[in-house]
Amino acid sequence: MMQEAALPLGLRLRLLAEGPETSAALAVPGAEVGDFTDPDAVVAFAAGLDAVTFDHEHVPTELLRRLADAGVAVRPGPEALVHAQDKAAMRERLTALGVPCPRWRVVASPAELTAFAEEAGWPVIAKTSRGGYDGKGVWKVDAPADADAPFAALAGPQGPTEAQREADPSVVIVAEEFVDFARELSVLVARRPGGEAVAYPVSETVQRDGICHETTTPAPGLSPARAARLQEMALGVADALGVVGILAVELMERRDGEVVVNELAMRPHNTGHWSIDGAVTSQFENHLRAVADWPLGATDPVAPVTVMSNILGGANGDLVGSLPQVLADPRVRVHLYGKAVKPGRKVGHVTVCGTDLATTRDAARAASDLLEGRTHG
Ligand SMILES: Nc1ncnc2c1ncn2[C@@H]1O[C@H](COP(=O)(O)OP(=O)(O)O)[C@@H](O)[C@H]1O
Ligand SMILES: [Mg+2]
Repeated sequence: MMQEAALPLGLRLRLLAEGPETSAALAVPGAEVGDFTDPDAVVAFAAGLDAVTFDHEHVPTELLRRLADAGVAVRPGPEALVHAQDKAAMRERLTALGVPCPRWRVVASPAELTAFAEEAGWPVIAKTSRGGYDGKGVWKVDAPADADAPFAALAGPQGPTEAQREADPSVVIVAEEFVDFARELSVLVARRPGGEAVAYPVSETVQRDGICHETTTPAPGLSPARAARLQEMALGVADALGVVGILAVELMERRDGEVVVNELAMRPHNTGHWSIDGAVTSQFENHLRAVADWPLGATDPVAPVTVMSNILGGANGDLVGSLPQVLADPRVRVHLYGKAVKPGRKVGHVTVCGTDLATTRDAARAASDLLEGRTHG
């Protein structure tokens, strides 16, 4: 999706891809295949590039420092990016900045996790500080008997890869108060190296099992004043951390309306995919403009409401085969990623822009249901 935004801007992307069949490698001509944790591969790749950016955050911080020290324009830079890579660093910094967070603590053992839960109240959430995504590395801990699991997984397949542990042995468990949220929200900003920044409208997001399923923008029922405060908060975080590119701030809204930060991402984010069809300038374009240090584009929505629904791999192995039915609704915008369909894997998304929340949401859900191989009822 970054390539789709790069072409009309005349930007030439070069890609270091994990494999030749990844969706990014299918989109970017001449993609190089290499290991993003291998210093030699990354340093050689970066030679001669005007700037380096990412579509995930798992490149080791030390390696990025090396690139930055060697004069490569790494955007966002390692000192900012660490707050999207390391949930302990993120909590520490946000707390120091006075940004509202759930109650949290780094815990070194099941006993410390249990002690935290006795203070904060059961259940609690435990997360690996590094290497998680799509809910991998997040546990709900209901009772002392569950307190071992996160620590066991640090060494297991759900934890960071061996290469990541080697590159950074500082993976810890972060305990958090369980926030019984009314809903999750997300706010994206784009920021240039000199500080110019823009904020997107706040989205309501729905995650199931740690995976984003749907977003609605602007978030229904959020007053303009509260939305503006969240945008200001995100702009403030981007500025304090020196972010370049997109910063996504994932939020949880408590039942009393108070909003706390869940985590940060520094890249075009799933909760901003709506902006491809639903905003004057997509998050991908603004990410690239920011990374290139060019003026940023308008973030205004193009419709009263935009709903994005992810397509997760399921019963339907033939996404393209179901398109005639899906496209029969002319409002539906389909984005397939060219990935092999595997259960639960994000293989695309659909977007519908509309004037009315209920019918717009229904149209987006109908389209993703069809693409996932369910009949819409
Ligand atoms: N403290 C918390 N209280 C309640 N739910 C949480 C908490 N932290 C995370 N979650 C839930 O778990 C999901 C994944 O957590 P997150 O830290 O965003 O992990 P990931 O890096 O996998 O996205 C969140 O979107 C939210 O639904
Ligand atoms: Mg998350």
